[in-house]
Amino acid sequence: MKSKLRIVMISSECVPYAKTGGLADVVGALPQALVALGHEVIVVLPKYRAVNVQKHKNEPFMSPMGVWMGDTEEWCAVHATRMDDTVPVYFIESEKYFDRDGLYHDAEFNDFGDNPRRFAFLTRAALQLCKDIRFVPDIVHAHDWQAALAAPYLRVWHWNDPILGNAASVLTIHNIGYQGVYGAEHFDYLGLQWGNFTSDKLEDHGRINFLKGGIVYADMVNTVSPTYADETRTSEYAYGMAPYLNDKGPNYVGILNGVDYSQWNPAVDSLIPAQYSAEDLSGKAACKAALQRQFLLEVAPDMPIVGVVSRLADQKGLDLLAAAIEGMVQAMRVQFVILGSGDKALESYYGNLPTRYPGRIGTYIGYNNSLAHLIEAGSDFFIMPSRYEPCGLNQIYSLKYGTLPIVRATGGLNDTVQQYDEATGAGTGFKFWEPSASGIYYTVGWAVSTYFDRPQHIQQMIQAAMAQNFSWEESAKAYEEVYRRAILNKMML
Ligand code: ADP
Ligand code: GLC
Repeated sequence: MKSKLRIVMISSECVPYAKTGGLADVVGALPQALVALGHEVIVVLPKYRAVNVQKHKNEPFMSPMGVWMGDTEEWCAVHATRMDDTVPVYFIESEKYFDRDGLYHDAEFNDFGDNPRRFAFLTRAALQLCKDIRFVPDIVHAHDWQAALAAPYLRVWHWNDPILGNAASVLTIHNIGYQGVYGAEHFDYLGLQWGNFTSDKLEDHGRINFLKGGIVYADMVNTVSPTYADETRTSEYAYGMAPYLNDKGPNYVGILNGVDYSQWNPAVDSLIPAQYSAEDLSGKAACKAALQRQFLLEVAPDMPIVGVVSRLADQKGLDLLAAAIEGMVQAMRVQFVILGSGDKALESYYGNLPTRYPGRIGTYIGYNNSLAHLIEAGSDFFIMPSRYEPCGLNQIYSLKYGTLPIVRATGGLNDTVQQYDEATGAGTGFKFWEPSASGIYYTVGWAVSTYFDRPQHIQQMIQAAMAQNFSWEESAKAYEEVYRRAILNKMML
């Protein structure tokens, strides 16, 4: 079966329109990779206030569109554009739900109270749109809890529908730490019938669990790395979902994310002060000097820099780094550059470090894509001490920038970084297993001592890292396979 598939992707984020994390990078790249394999893809997103209509040539497409939520008909409009001039992207415009600053929460990081309604609405609107534009999908591909209800909606409401009746559902879990768990008072609005509010389906300790509903009903479920797929089959990593994922048997798999090398490649990156490649690394030295100047660090070519670009969330283990960083700066010849936002205590801790360690630690609290690129290019090492990491993209970007990752060996970090071998100089980074301050301390110490004592190994690793290829083509083929299995599973229902 090699025929063209028609796929609708439903997501709450997509580069270049709306992003808080790696989900946006994935949804911004996977559709093109699927189109390159001969498939037809459309993407449906919310029209947040931040979506820049002019910049993205986003035009009114349909108005009004009625969407049934429980027994209420809600109204929205649809805007449309094409991503990279190819993939049609439809934005669901609802003043009530999406015209506000922030995607999921307000400026104080308080979740919007109507999030269950907002994202259930997005999902139903996406399905309604397929009907209204007569897009007959083979696959409805939902990303994360925000779109997970697509699977139960298809099964409960659209099984007999001329447009949606044959669509198989695929749910991609980018992060099982976020499940969309909300009070049962929202259930009527979702319109999924109380008979399905049971513990084997959508109910979770008296509440609604969007992700669980998606897992149970989807024809195929995947997550974003093989190691994380294994980890989430255990109670330690699954936040309560292990039994449901294990129930999926072979219908739950791990597919590593790819990287958009048109955005993240030092040879073509227009956001960095000097381009470079594995053959000629001189531009990397220029980027390092620029990074040191930008963050008011001592401009010293021989001082290793460890970079961080991250959401400041518990998952990322940056509280553990906080417990180790001052000891490292005192004991080692090393600089740190930190870019991130999120947890207020960590923002204030890291935000104060530059005044306490002038010239040695630089911090920028906030979200800044150009600085993210500069840190990838100018650092010598890139640290991700994550407690868990479904895939992680920054370490894969780091490899391409010849910036050696220092990572906890979990999830995608484990799958994408090869451990340094001191005997041969092989490997692409430095891994540790224990999520602790001392694990970080000793591994950074190992990287820094390698930098000073075995510089030829560092050069060898830089070459090995930059030669790695995590392009989307391979991952898109793996998704193609998942789609075909989803279609077969649906046919066997
Ligand atoms: P996650 O999705 O869990 O946050 P990933 O590593 O998959 O982790 O993706 C993070 C993405 O978000 C990367 O593209 C990274 O560059 C970007 N990012 C995270 N924090 C910031 C920030 N403060 N400024 C700019 N980019 C950021
Ligand atoms: C999530 C995960 C991250 C992954 C990204 C894209 O945000 O935390 O590890 O890379 O999704 O799949």
